[in-house]
Amino acid sequence: MTELAVANEVVREQQAAMDAGLCRYWTILENRQAIGSIDLSLIRDGSAEVGFLLRPDRWDQGFASEAVGTVITYALGPLDLKRLAAAVQAENRAAARVLEKNGFSQVQQRAVTLPGGDSRVCGFYLLKR
Ligand SMILES: CC(C)(COP(=O)(O)OP(=O)(O)OC[C@H]1O[C@@H](n2cnc3c(N)ncnc32)[C@H](O)[C@@H]1OP(=O)(O)O)[C@@H](O)C(=O)NCCC(=O)NCCS
Repeated sequence: MTELAVANEVVREQQAAMDAGLCRYWTILENRQAIGSIDLSLIRDGSAEVGFLLRPDRWDQGFASEAVGTVITYALGPLDLKRLAAAVQAENRAAARVLEKNGFSQVQQRAVTLPGGDSRVCGFYLLKR
């Protein structure tokens, strides 16, 4: 499969999941250029999980913090969710800081086994309305 075919397949799966109301995906734009993405996944029973990713050449300029804040406002407002969760690797201090600045609290830290078999310590965060 070519990279384009893989990307098309990912977009198709994401679109189907959005149509089913299971998740929401947004692209973060700067001057109409895509510099990152943010999503709500596992939307169910008033809860969802937030994930975010920024292009490395745009790190440390506040973009992820602003995007997370905007998505929280939408999730707890128009989407009427009660609880947001997030998981980040413990060594990822920038991601933890983005969550903490937006009102998330760490509720647990434990080792997680990744699909390839490696293990990583992850922090689990919650924000309640
Ligand atoms: C995590 C990530 C999204 C952060 O994006 P960003 O736009 O650089 O984040 P912001 O600029 O809004 O905020 C970063 C904060 O972390 C701080 N920070 C950055 N590196 C840090 C480090 N090594 N240790 C401690 N704090 C750090 C910054 O100072 C800033 O905090 P401040 O505003 O109080 O000064 C980005 O690094 C990324 O895409 N990483 C790869 C994907 C990922 O880890 N996603 C999160 C998992 S869901």
